[in-house]
Amino acid sequence: MAEVSLHKLNKKFDTTHVVKDVDLQIRDKEFMVFVGPSGCGKTTTLRMIAGLEAITTGEIRIGNTVVNEVPPMDRDIAMVFQNYALYPHMSVASNMAFGLKMRKFEKSEIEKRIKNAASILGIEELLHRKPRQLSGGQRQRVALGRAIVRDPAVFLFDEPLSNLDAKLRVQMRVELKKLHERLAVTSVYVTHDQVEAMTLGDRVVVMKDGVVQQVGEPLELYNTPANRFVAGFIGSPAMNFADVTLAENGGRPVAEAPGLRIVLPDALAARARAKVGRKATLGIRPEDIHLAGAADSVDHCFEANVEVVEQLGSEILLDTRVGAATVVASVDPMVKVRSHDKLKLALNPARLHLFDAESEAAI
Ligand SMILES: Nc1ncnc2c1ncn2[C@@H]1O[C@H](COP(=O)(O)OP(=O)(O)OP(=O)(O)O)[C@@H](O)[C@H]1O
Ligand SMILES: [Mg+2]
Repeated sequence: MAEVSLHKLNKKFDTTHVVKDVDLQIRDKEFMVFVGPSGCGKTTTLRMIAGLEAITTGEIRIGNTVVNEVPPMDRDIAMVFQNYALYPHMSVASNMAFGLKMRKFEKSEIEKRIKNAASILGIEELLHRKPRQLSGGQRQRVALGRAIVRDPAVFLFDEPLSNLDAKLRVQMRVELKKLHERLAVTSVYVTHDQVEAMTLGDRVVVMKDGVVQQVGEPLELYNTPANRFVAGFIGSPAMNFADVTLAENGGRPVAEAPGLRIVLPDALAARARAKVGRKATLGIRPEDIHLAGAADSVDHCFEANVEVVEQLGSEILLDTRVGAATVVASVDPMVKVRSHDKLKLALNPARLHLFDAESEAAI
């Protein structure tokens, strides 16, 4: 069991600075997910924790030990890679035994651990097979098994599900979550998939261009994103953004754009008042917009031209145009809407977000 802490961690490849001043405390038994777009530095950070990549500056601790100079073999971590990295000429059992043999474990202990891991993962029947005789999902389980038998202080996962088809990915995601509950080992998990991040993480680190944008529990990121990037990255379909000017109307702060005048709720009013006359970005999630009804105040309604109707069964996604902005709304699947319709939509004012036009930080 161990905490992992990253202190002012930096990585440069020659002159390219790919991980920038990352500070992070990962708690004992925590499942921490790194998420961000391709190239933002997730794998590099994970590889520095594993010891597979040298640290340019900063410090990594596992438990109470600074591990900067500790070789990977001695870090008490086990890593599961995207491509599984199984030895093709070895059986499943030998693949799982390999790391333990290298560490000179007793044969009986190795057998005991393989049996235990195989039963946890439901792969007892596969132990004698070669990797090429396994499906993708089975190979994934073997790669997990190889990590589990090590009984490490920390698991590191680099996009372990990305080679699986969509259905299997969802199934393995649930299994990983159960596995973590059962084993309760500190885990660091890298993915570019925000759904995986939200469903697996106790906490999630959102990265962009090597910089941590926000660290928080999944709902914290969803409800109170620190900036426009996090707001747009977390949640599907993505949050809508509109360029607005902050103004005052009859003493009430409003956000205005062509075709849009939204009275801001009290929670945002004071901060918006301080910026009257300035530009800002208004954010609203598709699920916080609905067809306007009698209960909706005109303060929160707007006219929208429907461009595309996406019927998903459980919801309808309307791609609409509102003045110069494109607005996606998720509405009741029972309503009858067609493209080119003109509709009145309403938003839930309590769910509005406002971002500074320049710094993009939440206002
Ligand atoms: N060995 C290397 N030499 C030079 N540049 C590298 C090296 N490894 C990674 N990089 C660069 O560092 C940046 C971060 O790469 P990294 O693999 O950490 O991204 P990532 O967030 O894991 O992306 P992905 O989601 O595509 O896996 C990228 O711009 C990449 O090109
Ligand atoms: Mg990567």
